[in-house]
Amino acid sequence: MATDSFGRRIDYLRISLTDRCNLRCFYCMPEEGVVWRPHSEILTFEEIERFAAVAVSEGVSKIRLTGGEPLIRKGVVEHVRRLKALTGIEGIALTTNGVLLERYGKALAEAGLSRVNISIDSLDSEVYRRITGGGRLEHALAGLETAFRVGMKPVKLNVVVIRSLKQDLLAFARLSFERPVHVRFIEYMPVGNVGSCSPAKERWNLRETVPSDEILERLAEEGREAGFGSLETIARDAAPGGWGPARYYRFSGAAGTVCVISPLSFHFCAECNRLRLTADGRLRPCLFSDEELDVRSLIRGGGSDVDLRDLIRQALAAKPEGHCMRVGTGRGMSQIGG
Ligand code: 5AD
Ligand code: SF4
Repeated sequence: MATDSFGRRIDYLRISLTDRCNLRCFYCMPEEGVVWRPHSEILTFEEIERFAAVAVSEGVSKIRLTGGEPLIRKGVVEHVRRLKALTGIEGIALTTNGVLLERYGKALAEAGLSRVNISIDSLDSEVYRRITGGGRLEHALAGLETAFRVGMKPVKLNVVVIRSLKQDLLAFARLSFERPVHVRFIEYMPVGNVGSCSPAKERWNLRETVPSDEILERLAEEGREAGFGSLETIARDAAPGGWGPARYYRFSGAAGTVCVISPLSFHFCAECNRLRLTADGRLRPCLFSDEELDVRSLIRGGGSDVDLRDLIRQALAAKPEGHCMRVGTGRGMSQIGG
């Protein structure tokens, strides 16, 4: 079982399959456009699977595929099937914007994918279009419906809360009554420092981050006014199957839950359980640290599985204790893997 130098058990690997995306969320992609990495710099499925097999032998039991948008990569369904077949794998999860889920959901479920996080920052189609640079909400919602229809579980929604967008949080809470969905409100983080969220076109700005406590207060108050009943805390050990740092709540009587993820206001580094592999083959011990280990060169230079194992051990040793609220990272989220 892999533990890092602070005694944390590391059993979760997030793999970014591509830095490309079919949407252009302003907080993720720089306005002037991103320079995509050439295909030759992106790990092949074979290379990823080889790395994953070594990681699993080192104690990883959970894998999440992210991007960019992982579903735009051709062959992703078969990739899921092969990862799922690794001995010792407990589950494969996917983070997606949902746009292609209507098309691939059934095949993905058959290939062994059950856990899905869909990013939808607004349930208002005009606001959604603005955030995503032209995305159509109905496509993402069709993806959400597909996830339920093909029996994925848990189904989570990721909502990055940005103050000047004035998102209607209660609309998401309403959804948690209709569907067994887990809506996760995420504090807007200074990742990559791209994008321009306010009309003044400022870069990331602490004022644009809505602290989780404020989100919870707003939900409780607006929920009360709307006659939703009380907002109950769900104990950590009763939380519906999270691998991560979300804190769960439920409006009494709701099928689903509302959650908060607080990278800035609440230090969850002590519970960190993960490593990240970027699409271009860098192993990243911490989202907020730009330190990376070069898996791609090792594999392409003829490195053995023992070399890969040693690299993973190095990454574990390099995991910092916490991120110390450092502001900004060299790469954007689409290039690290959300
Ligand atoms: N802050 C918070 N969440 C972000 N995401 C992307 N960039 C940021 C940011 N700066 C979210 C995406 C997606 C998840 C993988 O990360 O919206 O839901
Ligand atoms: Fe694409 Fe996700 Fe970035 Fe939006 S946040 S542009 S959906 S990778």
